[in-house]
Amino acid sequence: MAALPLLLLLLAVASLGHAADPYAFFDWDVSYITASPLGVPQQVIAINKKFPGPIVNITTNYNVVVNVLNSLDEPLLITWDGIQHRKNCWEDGVLGTNCPIPPGWNWTYNFQVKDQIGSFFYFPPLSMQRAAGGFGGITVNNRAVISVPFDTPDGDYTLFIGDWYKKNHTDLRKMLDDGKELGVPDGVLMNGKGPYKYNDSLVPDGIEYETINVEPGKTYRFRVHNVGVSTSLNFRIQNHNLALVETEGSYTMKQNFTNLDIHVGQSYSFLITMDQNASSDYYIVASARFVNESIWSRVTGVAILHYSNSKGKASGPLPDPPNDEYDKTFSMNQARSIRMNVSTGAARPNPQGSFHYGNINVSQVYKLRNEPPVTINGKKRTTLNGISYSPPETPMRLADLYKKEGVYTLDFPTMPTDGPPVVGSSIINATYKNFMEIVFQNNDTKVQTYHIDGYAFWVVGMDYGEWTENSRGTYNKWDGVSRCTTQVFPGAWTAVLLSLDSPGVWNVRTENLDTWYLGQETYIRVLDPAGGYNVTEMVAPDNILYCGLLKDKQKAQKPHGSSGLASSAAALNRHLLAVLVSLVVVAFVH
Ligand SMILES: *[C@@H]1O[C@H](CO)[C@@H](O)[C@H](O)[C@H]1NC(C)=O
Ligand SMILES: *[C@@H]1O[C@H](CO)[C@@H](O)[C@H](O)[C@H]1NC(C)=O
Ligand SMILES: *[C@@H]1O[C@H](CO)[C@@H](O)[C@H](O)[C@H]1NC(C)=O
Ligand SMILES: *[C@@H]1O[C@H](CO)[C@@H](O)[C@H](O)[C@H]1NC(C)=O
Ligand SMILES: *[C@@H]1O[C@H](CO)[C@@H](O)[C@H](O)[C@H]1NC(C)=O
Ligand SMILES: *[C@@H]1O[C@H](CO)[C@@H](O)[C@H](O)[C@H]1NC(C)=O
Ligand SMILES: *[C@@H]1O[C@H](CO)[C@@H](O)[C@H](O)[C@H]1NC(C)=O
Ligand SMILES: *[C@@H]1O[C@H](CO)[C@@H](O)[C@H](O)[C@H]1NC(C)=O
Ligand SMILES: *[C@@H]1O[C@H](CO)[C@@H](O)[C@H](O)[C@H]1NC(C)=O
Ligand SMILES: *[C@@H]1O[C@H](CO)[C@@H](O)[C@H](O)[C@H]1NC(C)=O
Ligand SMILES: *[C@@H]1O[C@H](CO)[C@@H](O)[C@H](O)[C@H]1NC(C)=O
Ligand SMILES: *[C@@H]1O[C@H](CO)[C@@H](O)[C@H](O)[C@H]1NC(C)=O
Repeated sequence: MAALPLLLLLLAVASLGHAADPYAFFDWDVSYITASPLGVPQQVIAINKKFPGPIVNITTNYNVVVNVLNSLDEPLLITWDGIQHRKNCWEDGVLGTNCPIPPGWNWTYNFQVKDQIGSFFYFPPLSMQRAAGGFGGITVNNRAVISVPFDTPDGDYTLFIGDWYKKNHTDLRKMLDDGKELGVPDGVLMNGKGPYKYNDSLVPDGIEYETINVEPGKTYRFRVHNVGVSTSLNFRIQNHNLALVETEGSYTMKQNFTNLDIHVGQSYSFLITMDQNASSDYYIVASARFVNESIWSRVTGVAILHYSNSKGKASGPLPDPPNDEYDKTFSMNQARSIRMNVSTGAARPNPQGSFHYGNINVSQVYKLRNEPPVTINGKKRTTLNGISYSPPETPMRLADLYKKEGVYTLDFPTMPTDGPPVVGSSIINATYKNFMEIVFQNNDTKVQTYHIDGYAFWVVGMDYGEWTENSRGTYNKWDGVSRCTTQVFPGAWTAVLLSLDSPGVWNVRTENLDTWYLGQETYIRVLDPAGGYNVTEMVAPDNILYCGLLKDKQKAQKPHGSSGLASSAAALNRHLLAVLVSLVVVAFVH
């Protein structure tokens, strides 16, 4: 091996901090490619020409360095759903913390997956881009010293399910800007592919579908993520049990399901044993929930589970969905039955249940109520507690750092108000080390899923009707699951608890893209009055981008998108980085 690349490798590792933990390097070019998942050619967002993007397969405490080149024609960020970026919101990749990467520019994320395990995904969070792709998996494996509460599976598959439109994200955006609804999606994709032709009148010829190849008798881990726009999906595999073992970073009490509802933005791991006699292939199905089947029949994703000894193609009707189109009780009961395995270790050797969240006194309470879309200043908008969020042009922590006042306000109401809805940049004022209770009250007519960046929260309660203080009597104070994305049924509430142990500004949002785009989000500003920047919170990285009120501080980058003419120096750098990546990967494998 040549001495120069080795030297570069050592320099790269030495210069990036957390040097004791291993590094994983990725070099991504985010661009449009043409794909026809539903038979109609359209521009989808790909990473290194792949749709879905590559899986970031790492281990607890790894440092992850991702150099993202924006070869789209619009600003880009990548956010890492469920990755906690402890005390380091600078790498979170949302508008409250980062300036978007301009077209043709690159920006390098550098973060540690401290004390985490589990199945998550990344995606482009700006202005509906996820509706065009750009997503991929994040798999954080246990360190070898910590045992996993089940036998090592024989294989590991990641499956992205999600509703899909033939219209591209720019057209979908325009519909929302014009006050229209997106309407019924055109299908459900699985790993970026359309449905298997299970029904001649519903599926046209020539659609490429996903096939999962398996061996009889073996057990596989399936990591399933709903990366869609806005549709809750029922997931099931014909004749096979789904043994649920993990939700977004915590191990659950192992439990069999024949089907499970997976709402937008949620991730689950199942162990699936190939215990059928392979008289044929089997259907893997994700179908729309709580809708009129005769109108939504096309909104069904179908992939194929193929045994190596299969005797023929899958045929006949799909396995039945739950027979309760307009009754969400079954779905809520399923969700409530998911329990954390409190006795197993996860990222750390001590058991997951050792935090005893149920014994901690709550110090701050917020009840966040959404409502069906409203009209504000002639525009259709969505709200939380009557506020429709408008992202400031200057990221909030950057504004703090440079003492730019008035960029945002810390006056987010603790309870729903009856005043007229307004557009604003109002966020939650929270204190480091407090213990917060957030109640999501869904006054809308469809399921919304809520996500909090930077944290996992305990889901302690979920029920119909209006939450009141008495509702606390029903909370699960012992083995509620800790996760980052929870569903809230219409006309119902979900309560979560979170321990504010990571200062910064952290996005609270609905994962349903249309509702999010129209303003249903805010942030939690977690401040350590005794510490703050550079004490309990990490300093901004050297490569931070500036924009908004601070745009004059930003040096222009020479655009070097894959579509434009790459300067030879940038091309050389990229080549060197690619060499580094392969070297580091080699170093890890050995
Ligand atoms: C989206 O589709 C419209 C036509 O419907 C087209 O004008 C536009 O360029 C497309 N945008 C992208 C990013 O492909
Ligand atoms: C992911 O990494 C783990 C640990 O290094 C390895 O065992 C596994 O085979 C990898 N999985 C995939 C899908 O590459
Ligand atoms: C852009 O990529 C180059 C390598 O191609 C790298 O040296 C540089 O640090 C990156 N810029 C940023 C802002 O991350
Ligand atoms: C819970 O975790 C323990 C310890 O790893 C394991 O032995 C047990 O099987 C798990 N229980 C369930 C129901 O998953
Ligand atoms: C195919 O789907 C159509 C429309 O939902 C339905 O009427 C028909 O019975 C299905 N055909 C088969 C063979 O299941
Ligand atoms: C769960 O499903 C597996 C595989 O089908 C089966 O072997 C096991 O007995 C089931 N467990 C329970 C508790 O039903
Ligand atoms: C097993 O295969 C036979 C035909 O080979 C079929 O008749 C039978 O239904 C299959 N059983 C199961 C459980 O799939
Ligand atoms: C479902 O849609 C069909 C077609 O529009 C309609 O005839 C039927 O009444 C609807 N069913 C329900 C329960 O709303
Ligand atoms: C919680 O509050 C109760 C009543 O105010 C108090 O008695 C108890 O000591 C507190 N517990 C903790 C752990 O602070
Ligand atoms: C935020 O909360 C802290 C602690 O309660 C308080 O001292 C501070 O004044 C609040 N800030 C604003 C702007 O309300
Ligand atoms: C929304 O709130 C209103 C007023 O409190 C209430 O009458 C209505 O039932 C609520 N709707 C849902 C779906 O929660
Ligand atoms: C952070 O603190 C260190 C040590 O106290 C100091 O050298 C450094 O200049 C500080 N950095 C910033 C950006 O404030």
